[in-house]
Amino acid sequence: MFYLSETLTEISVVAGPASIDLANNIAKRLGVQLTVANLRIFSDGESNIKLGKVGKNCVIVQSTYPPVDTHLIQLLMMAKKCTDDGAQDICAVIPYLCYARQDKAFLEGEVVSIGLVAKLLQAVEVQHVITVDIHSQLAMSYFTSIQNVSSVPLLADYASKMKLRDPVAVSPDSGGANRAKEFARLLDIEVVVLKKSRHRVTGEVSVDEKLELDISKRDALVIDDIISSGGSIIKAAEVLHKKGVGKIFAMCTHALLIRDAAQKIKSAGVQDIVSTNSVPGEYSKVELSPEIASVLKSRY
Ligand code: R5P
Repeated sequence: MFYLSETLTEISVVAGPASIDLANNIAKRLGVQLTVANLRIFSDGESNIKLGKVGKNCVIVQSTYPPVDTHLIQLLMMAKKCTDDGAQDICAVIPYLCYARQDKAFLEGEVVSIGLVAKLLQAVEVQHVITVDIHSQLAMSYFTSIQNVSSVPLLADYASKMKLRDPVAVSPDSGGANRAKEFARLLDIEVVVLKKSRHRVTGEVSVDEKLELDISKRDALVIDDIISSGGSIIKAAEVLHKKGVGKIFAMCTHALLIRDAAQKIKSAGVQDIVSTNSVPGEYSKVELSPEIASVLKSRY
């Protein structure tokens, strides 16, 4: 017989419009009540959220992928409603935490947007945030209570079941080196870290073509936290192809895939894209609920 802890029975998992399936899977794993937020979008684009009754402890699941501002305001609305209804503890599960890349003023006059996001969440009494593969440690420093879950073991587990020829893990830039090294360690394969630079004003990306490893005829698993325009993956693919790589697979936590990014990535000779369901869609093949539910179990 399986008994829930007293606190777990008082948890409501609130499914935000951006993460209904993920929230449902988390609630099932915890064996607790799911409350689905009812959404209407008015003709001017404003969101209208309706929530049923919630418990003392609320776990709101809402990834803030594009449209980021809409998903963010919906999250704030849900937290506000839980607070108004007497919730004592609100934990926001935000797999893709928007604005985490704006963690400092890169150019004079820029706003440190992630700091503002942290303040907004605090204003609606979100006590704790759980996110996945946040872009930087610096972004985390703006929150008083935040946990970062790694999706690397889940991605590695998926990769371990793929049919690959002498695979090599590839990080498209030095910022992702630790992630790719951990991924390679779990799969017991070699790793290559590309040297990418991005022009701060034009956004133009370039990659050094010198590699420390012979990758010819070997399959490459290019792993990144975010795929947005696809520019980083496409540049990496160009270099890998020049070196005679076998098949290339792009793996990431957050597949934002803005506009026709997926098409462009495939046209650049990438076999497939594999991401987590932080951003639900065609490529979200890796389920995050096991890791998130286990973090939540240790919290309650
Ligand atoms: C950059 O440092 C990140 O880790 C990603 O590589 C980047 O955000 C991906 O963006 P895009 O797909 O637009 O190149």
